[in-house]
Amino acid sequence: MSTVFNFTFVPWFRSVAPYIHMHRGKTFVVGIAGEAIAAGKLQHLAQDLALIQSMGVKIVLVHGFRPQVNEQLAAKGHTPKYSQGIRITDSVALDCAQEAAGQLRYEIEAAFSQGLPNTPMAGSTVRVISGNFITARPVGIVDGVDFIHSGLVRKVDVDGIMRTLDMGAMVLLSPFGFSPTGEAFNLAMEEVATSVATELQADKLIFVTEVPGIRIEPHAPASEDNPIDTELPLAAAKQLLASLPTPTEPTDIGFYLQHCVKACEEGVERSHILPFAVDGALLLEVYVHDGIGTMVIDEKLEELREATSDDVGGILQLIEPFEKDGTLVKRDRTEIERDIDHYTIIDHDGVIFACAALYPYPEAKTAEMAALTVSPQSQGQGDGEKVLKRIEQRARAMGVKSIFVLTTRTMHWFIKRGFVQQDPDWLPEARKRKYNWDRKSQVLVKKL
Ligand SMILES: CC(C)(COP(=O)(O)OP(=O)(O)OC[C@H]1O[C@@H](n2cnc3c(N)ncnc32)[C@H](O)[C@@H]1OP(=O)(O)O)[C@@H](O)C(=O)NCCC(=O)NCCS
Repeated sequence: MSTVFNFTFVPWFRSVAPYIHMHRGKTFVVGIAGEAIAAGKLQHLAQDLALIQSMGVKIVLVHGFRPQVNEQLAAKGHTPKYSQGIRITDSVALDCAQEAAGQLRYEIEAAFSQGLPNTPMAGSTVRVISGNFITARPVGIVDGVDFIHSGLVRKVDVDGIMRTLDMGAMVLLSPFGFSPTGEAFNLAMEEVATSVATELQADKLIFVTEVPGIRIEPHAPASEDNPIDTELPLAAAKQLLASLPTPTEPTDIGFYLQHCVKACEEGVERSHILPFAVDGALLLEVYVHDGIGTMVIDEKLEELREATSDDVGGILQLIEPFEKDGTLVKRDRTEIERDIDHYTIIDHDGVIFACAALYPYPEAKTAEMAALTVSPQSQGQGDGEKVLKRIEQRARAMGVKSIFVLTTRTMHWFIKRGFVQQDPDWLPEARKRKYNWDRKSQVLVKKL
């Protein structure tokens, strides 16, 4: 075996280890758009889900079937009918939905049963269990439109799903629910996944969709300067949603976002919109630091925010011990007061326990992150990482292409988070003039 392989494989595999440990025993609800299956992505999705499950994650899989139902309708000479983004399910559409769900369930179960040698599924044993876990009620007549057999989730059998997951099985749900009178209702995949995630208080709700996520400038076209916003705090997501018209098509910006926001508001800390067009999107999101697609995250427990002049005292108190021991360069009160707009902090009940500042060098399309600090009693809980992510967002919003840090003691922390060492000559001219050659700080750069 080539030694180059060892040098790449071993560090790569070790870098994934923290994420494997972190997610073990957690519950993920994964909603797969019917479009993903229509686009031939089922085999790879099943392989990735089987792998995630084998690493101790409990998975509830909800499949959509919009294109498959439309295909059945077309075959019968009918056109699909929608109102306010919800299908109007007449008796022909209900038949089509039942046929499509039956066919898809069969295909999904088959995909999880693969196990040929030399494939990612070799040796895997994924038991997939479906059932009548969802009780539904009719949408009814809204604004004079009768939705007939279209329904909404009334109840989720949490106990039944949990017991099935605890057996080590994957739960598979079709977007159907049954009323106590035994009537079947066609539901929206997104609503089923969101209701199940909130009722189970799942750790993640993940939508695998036809959209790549939500862009930094949501209304502007895709470009290098308008990438996908990887992390959207709940408050910002709600604000964006409020500014949008009611979404009706899956490609509308608010379509999946409205469900992510709802789940987050009801206690699911992280909800994701991932593109099925990227092979391995689930693995990239779950096991890679920077993730993929857009994650809506609820940060209400503690407040991650931009600093104001009231925070100067708290910031000074936080960074002082690290200035004294030489980890950070000395900054006095006036300097922090002057630069307070550059700071991002985490505040918990009025106590600041993390901060960092961002200084742009627009002429070099870069920005410096300085004074990243987490109070000693809170270190090791991911707060440093949260502040880094917010600084990255602020930097992207400024339109710079990279951020850099100067550090004498914390190189490895940054390298683990995607920074790469550069020669001090790399620094923007204005920063190079201030570089303290005696301190011999290392320059680490992360491309955004
Ligand atoms: C560096 C710092 C901001 C990280 O904050 P944090 O909230 O503890 O970071 P996270 O919880 O996101 O990450 C913790 C991980 O980083 C590691 N880590 C902490 N300090 C480190 C360092 N100096 N070098 C390398 N790794 C470090 C921890 O061991 C932990 O690893 P683990 O997850 O494998 O156990 C914090 O340790 C700190 O304030 N240090 C003092 C100030 C400083 O050095 N700032 C950088 C100035 S350039």
